[in-house]
Amino acid sequence: MAVDELIGLLKALETVGASAMRAASGAEALEALRTEYLGRKGRITAILRRLGELSAEEKPVVGAEANRVKAALDALLTERETAFAGTANEGPRVDLTLPGRARWRGGVHPVTLVIDEICDIFRDLGFSRVAGPEVETVDYNFSKLNTPLDHPAADMHDTFYLQDGVVLRTHTSPAQAHVMEHFQPPVRVVVPGMVYRRDPYDASHAPAFAQLEGLAVDEGITFADFKATISEFVRRFFGADAKTRFRPSFFPFTEPSAEVDVSCRICAGAGCSACKHTGWMEIMGSGMVHPNVFEAVGYDPEKYTGYAFGMGPGRIALQRYKLPDIRLLYEGDMRFLGQFA
Ligand code: DAH
Repeated sequence: MAVDELIGLLKALETVGASAMRAASGAEALEALRTEYLGRKGRITAILRRLGELSAEEKPVVGAEANRVKAALDALLTERETAFAGTANEGPRVDLTLPGRARWRGGVHPVTLVIDEICDIFRDLGFSRVAGPEVETVDYNFSKLNTPLDHPAADMHDTFYLQDGVVLRTHTSPAQAHVMEHFQPPVRVVVPGMVYRRDPYDASHAPAFAQLEGLAVDEGITFADFKATISEFVRRFFGADAKTRFRPSFFPFTEPSAEVDVSCRICAGAGCSACKHTGWMEIMGSGMVHPNVFEAVGYDPEKYTGYAFGMGPGRIALQRYKLPDIRLLYEGDMRFLGQFA
């Protein structure tokens, strides 16, 4: 019977067509299949031409089946075309509208900037820049600096002991002893470096921080030389209008000892929260080198005198860059450090 034959042909066409469409290698092949199967002179139309062989009741049956096959093949073609369109659009995966990537630039750490600037000023004043070891014996860290081991500074609570009698230096002052043991007067050095203390870690304390030691020894050096040198340093570093104040203090390795204050850079001495309303900011401990220190390193205390000082470049960087928290300087956050590049 013609009906069964035509319906069989349509079903066969669906099977063959579908597998050809699934195997098609690209958009062009699919286009050709669309014409071959669904086109006006296509294979389905060819079958429908034979509808004339059928009776009035049979025609709609075959017609309906032809429409179903057409729709099915059309849906499959569309699905496959969309899949190929997806890959075609991928092209090179470059978005030319994206902004260019900024080139990464390294910079000098703010504490290093401050240290370099301080050392440059002291170089102009006749001081050499030297370094000392960060691991010291208690002898160098304390004893040679006229600090007995029962002094609170030598206590386990304040000092990192690596082993018996060996510590991470708690200050840069032991470098004084190394320098004097290696060189005869006249001596003028500055010694920047890291020091370590068992301090709490908060906005104004870090267990590791930078210090900068200074030492000048010769015949006839007096406290007046110290005042003149430091006052000149303060003017050059902080500005011509910066005032310097010397306050009596105590350190085991100096006699007399003094702390040096600079008129507050933020309020110019009027008093603000940065200077705790005193108008002054402490920048260093200092004094005339104690005769016991000279004896410990083999200098003749009858012949030589000298001054020494120790300052905190981290604290000074906080003032200079108006930073609220010393931890910013030691945590390596690139968003912060990048601002100094
Ligand atoms: N070493 C002292 C400290 O860490 C600072 C200091 C004070 C250094 C007086 C000196 C000095 O050279 O003479 O607190």
